[in-house]
Amino acid sequence: MLNMDNFLKEVDYALEVLDNHSNSSSKDEKLNADEKKQSQRVMRVNHMGEVCAQALYRGQAFTTDETSTKELILKMCSEERDHLGMCAIE
Ligand SMILES: [Fe+2]
Repeated sequence: MLNMDNFLKEVDYALEVLDNHSNSSSKDEKLNADEKKQSQRVMRVNHMGEVCAQALYRGQAFTTDETSTKELILKMCSEERDHLGMCAIE
């Protein structure tokens, strides 16, 4: 049976992750136009991969009742969140 508190926590988590905007600013200044375009393409894919990995892990953790499995999955998800932070351009 769906636990509404846990469901809303997952919605909150998803909104927080999706709010992690990256903007291209000062660090792009050292790149020429072609390099900047290529960098943006790569980082866009990388960024989406980190977001989707978290969604998969959170979904798996949400649906398992086994505590040790849930903890392991959430730990892996936390690593993906760190990766997402690395994708953000200041
Ligand atoms: Fe990752």
